[in-house]
Amino acid sequence: MSARILDGKLIASRVKEEVVAAVAGLDYTPGLATVLVGDDPASHSYVRGKRRDAEQVGIGLFHHELSNTVEQGVLESLIDELNADDDVDGILVQLPLPDGLDAGAIVERIDPLKDVDGLHPFNLGLLALSRPGLRPCTPSGIMRILSEYDIAVSGVKVVVVGRSFLVGRPLALILSEKGVDATVTVAHSRTRDLVAETADADIVVAAVGSPRLITAEHVKPGATVIDVGVSRTDDGLVGDVDFESVVEVAGAITPVPGGVGPMTRAMLLVNTLKAAEGRRG
Ligand code: GUN
Repeated sequence: MSARILDGKLIASRVKEEVVAAVAGLDYTPGLATVLVGDDPASHSYVRGKRRDAEQVGIGLFHHELSNTVEQGVLESLIDELNADDDVDGILVQLPLPDGLDAGAIVERIDPLKDVDGLHPFNLGLLALSRPGLRPCTPSGIMRILSEYDIAVSGVKVVVVGRSFLVGRPLALILSEKGVDATVTVAHSRTRDLVAETADADIVVAAVGSPRLITAEHVKPGATVIDVGVSRTDDGLVGDVDFESVVEVAGAITPVPGGVGPMTRAMLLVNTLKAAEGRRG
């Protein structure tokens, strides 16, 4: 039997409608600043998508493009300006930054109240403490997909493959929060026997950026499989999950493209709205 396809594009359009309705009720325009450094085609494409989404829902845009050779100090000055600009509610610096730039220092320079990526140590700290704050977009998007499709997380075994600060680690924190109550394992490149970890999981989240790493043998029949990976290969965009084999075993699966990606973008809009409401009252 073939797994149910978890349609991230559909859920994202629902989330966007909610943001449109919320923005319409405001007496100001929430503003999002996007900062794109260098000429990485994937980053350009991601930021283009994020700007298009923001435009569609009525969020104001402030776009800044800087060259590969920009100095750390210049980028930091731009962040300072955006922090001080009252029309800017959210600041997104597309990652990764070109070699030679200190991404950690840039993210830390962003006003945590404008950190719509939820990657500032202050916001990740709030998350670790289960306190309200801006949370990273991809983990939030995954949680929304699970909830929209009524996939239970309480008490179930979730294996998160990947420990990045963008996805794996914050997702593991969210899943293990009181009230969410999953039993979480974080697997990674040094995990001794990945199949042994994932094969009895109720939910497998693959977030390593390793094309088709997760195959049918990793997946318990009926399990839910969330594919966060996007790799550009000769076959086009490929996820961390070998979709053709896993779709025959899993109970539910997100496709690539059209699964987690659109949700990450949608949650950025939600975070921008949240940041605006938080700052402007
Ligand atoms: N690069 C890949 N994913 C992301 C993301 O969610 N936010 C930012 N800023 N950069 C990314």
